Amino acid sequence: MLPRYSISVCGGFERIACNEIQTRLKDTGELQIIDRKPKRILLSFSGQPRELLSLRSAEHVFLVIKKLSNVTRSRHSLSTLKKSLGRVDFRPHFEICRKVGIRLKKRVTFRVTSQLSGQRNFRRIDLQRAVEHGLMTYGWRLTHERPALDVWIEVHGEDAYVSIRLSPMEMARRDYKQAHMPASLKPTIAYSLVQLSDPQPDDVFLDAMCGVGTILIERAYSGRYRYLLGGDISGEAIDAAQINIGKKHRPRQLFRWDAGRLPLSNWSVDKIVCNLPFGGKIGDEIGNQKLYRQFLIECKRVLKPTGRMVLLTTQQSILENLFKQRRSFRVARKFKIDLLGQSPSVYVCLPR
Ligand SMILES: C[S@@+](CC[C@H](N)C(=O)[O-])C[C@H]1O[C@@H](n2cnc3c(N)ncnc32)[C@H](O)[C@@H]1O
Repeated sequence: MLPRYSISVCGGFERIACNEIQTRLKDTGELQIIDRKPKRILLSFSGQPRELLSLRSAEHVFLVIKKLSNVTRSRHSLSTLKKSLGRVDFRPHFEICRKVGIRLKKRVTFRVTSQLSGQRNFRRIDLQRAVEHGLMTYGWRLTHERPALDVWIEVHGEDAYVSIRLSPMEMARRDYKQAHMPASLKPTIAYSLVQLSDPQPDDVFLDAMCGVGTILIERAYSGRYRYLLGGDISGEAIDAAQINIGKKHRPRQLFRWDAGRLPLSNWSVDKIVCNLPFGGKIGDEIGNQKLYRQFLIECKRVLKPTGRMVLLTTQQSILENLFKQRRSFRVARKFKIDLLGQSPSVYVCLPR
């Protein structure tokens, strides 16, 4: 049987992650996407496990060591789980762990993280303990100080997955991100927004409120382009973006500008991707109304009629009212994503 992996992704971007998995991995081994759940993709893959660690949409990669179905709310499920863990041949799993650089000594050290949803007659900690006890029967040592194996037990609906985390804690971070600012976007989300713009080799690509440059850099890593354009009203943000982009990714230009008054010609841009400023306070909301209005006028002006725009915001009502009033864009797709406890919406827009 092929090894099975589970990839955790940002909620809302599961389809994009599946596309990336299929396009990136199809020529490197036998691949099958088994299931697509909220925030999770389950797949079997015969290729090198390191390939999975290079997925740009993935938050984490897990090696599935046991899957149980028919998990009920009863405590009996815990003993079934514990018993099933006594019958695992870990040798092929350990081989995969070694291939991604996990060092295993003779006595394996481990810790268990548990996730549980739904109504149950047992608690998350009971689930954790059941797996800990199940694994200790192999002579493994439970420790929270730099364990070799980070084991996860997740129970959702009727399914239970026991898996080993293969990705390092910093997987979803990127080495290029040297300079940070508070509202900076997660690179996995920036990558997914960029994919929604349908990257093409002759794209003139614009992020008019680029912050520290995450979207621009993810675009640069998403294939050839003609030109990258970025700007921000904050000099501090532009300095940070310069540091993060470094000497790579040319041709490109960064500007300190007001996104409501872009110094760009009409119909000069193919793609716009932007993580808009969104604030909860009254003052911010009024400011954002004005900013969004002026920004949309500028986007309509600079974007080619064949272009595409992707926006992210929690201030859906401001944006949607403007779309209704001005009718300058058609919203081809709209969906919510999970972002650190907030649910911003993604809008894929085409000029009318
Ligand atoms: C949500 S952040 C974008 C973060 C960016 N995607 C990143 O990863 O760093 C919004 C950015 O919009 C910028 N901004 C706010 N008002 C602006 C304006 N009128 N013109 C240009 N940029 C503006 C802010 O300085 C901030 O960097």
